[in-house]
Amino acid sequence: MSKFLEVSLAVALAVSATASTVSAGPLGLGRPALPEEIAAWDVKIMPDGRGLPEGRGDVETGDEVFAENCAVCHGDFAEGVGNWPKLAGGWGTLDHDDPVKTVGSYWPYLSTVWDYVHRSMPFGNAQSLTPDEVYAIVAYILYSNNLVEDDFELSHENFLEVEMPNAGGFVVDDRPATEYAIWRGEPCMENCKDKVEITMRARVLDVTPDEAGAAMEQAPATEPAPEQKAEAPAAVTVAAADPELIAAGEKVFRKCSACHQVGDGARNRTGPVLNGVMGHPAGGVDGFKYSGALQAMAEDGLVWTEDTLSAFLENPRGFMKGTKMSFAGLKSAEERAAIAAYLASYRD
Ligand code: HEC
Ligand code: HEC
Repeated sequence: MSKFLEVSLAVALAVSATASTVSAGPLGLGRPALPEEIAAWDVKIMPDGRGLPEGRGDVETGDEVFAENCAVCHGDFAEGVGNWPKLAGGWGTLDHDDPVKTVGSYWPYLSTVWDYVHRSMPFGNAQSLTPDEVYAIVAYILYSNNLVEDDFELSHENFLEVEMPNAGGFVVDDRPATEYAIWRGEPCMENCKDKVEITMRARVLDVTPDEAGAAMEQAPATEPAPEQKAEAPAAVTVAAADPELIAAGEKVFRKCSACHQVGDGARNRTGPVLNGVMGHPAGGVDGFKYSGALQAMAEDGLVWTEDTLSAFLENPRGFMKGTKMSFAGLKSAEERAAIAAYLASYRD
């Protein structure tokens, strides 16, 4: 074990020893924190007033302390400077698109103001204020929010009498009890469906990006609007995601299915599986024995695009001398476009 690891392990054990109520432990390091040590560190103030120290401060004093310690960032009237937080104003904006949340408009508990100011302000010099100064500042922030008069004095005695305007604006989140059950059923973990049927393909819905061409990605999923149709330059490109053309291609595929299969569970037959063939290099199907002619063209970089496929299918042996695909060819350009769209709808 390295020195470093040994040391950090010792530290980890020491930490866990102090944190737990069991003292010392095998290493004899650390001890539980004493209640007074925790109390010295714990500065939290609770909504019911627990934790508040004795003390008092009035608005006038608060005005002075605030001007000295806070106004540079929060403004003379707690209205905020630049992007520093506003501590006053924003009343009645909570239902706006862009609500202004301040102590006056938003905070439900005055104890949070006392706690926050005492704990973390002034920014960069936290916990430098006396309890009386904090009471005075909190009184001044209330005054800036029109919640008290200018002769108001805040103390640990009247602290709970101050009503915060948005105290009733918070509700207990009871959705775990009231709603979750509605949205949650017993999850089915096995044999959930008798039969799984593929009703649509991502490629047809046009949600799968196609690395082969940006034009295809942009093709509309449904029938293009008439004006778009008129503009569309390459019918075949747009057609890639056209369900009608794909349906037509399915019919044309009957001429191929003696030798080729597509879809789930497709296997190599006389010809290779054609899933994912579009946009991919020729000769890529594992376990299929291609002719030397096809392998040679594949090595030369032949990729199956609408153009190359169309040329191949129009006249297989003319396009690829020596191919073992003994197929007469598809003379109709429409059929070739349809079969390209159909094959494109079967990814790997
Ligand atoms: C140097 C600038 C600076 C000074 C000085 C300063 N603050 Fe702040 N104050 C901030 C910043 C920044 C935040 C926001 C901190 C955050 O969101 O974590 C903040 C947040 C606050 C908030 C909470 C605002 C909210 O709605 O979330 C209060 C209240 C507050 N300050 C009070 C004071 C008081 C009182 C003083 C003087 C004792 C003071 N600040 C001095 C910069 C300052
Ligand atoms: C009589 C069987 C047969 C028919 C019918 C047939 N093919 Fe083929 N096809 C093959 C064979 C065999 C190969 C392998 C060619 C080679 O290795 O030279 C092949 C190869 C291909 C390839 C290249 C695949 C790859 O992995 O590079 C495509 C694409 C193709 N066929 C599409 C079609 C289409 C579309 C049809 C129908 C319009 C069709 N084929 C009809 C037998 C057939």
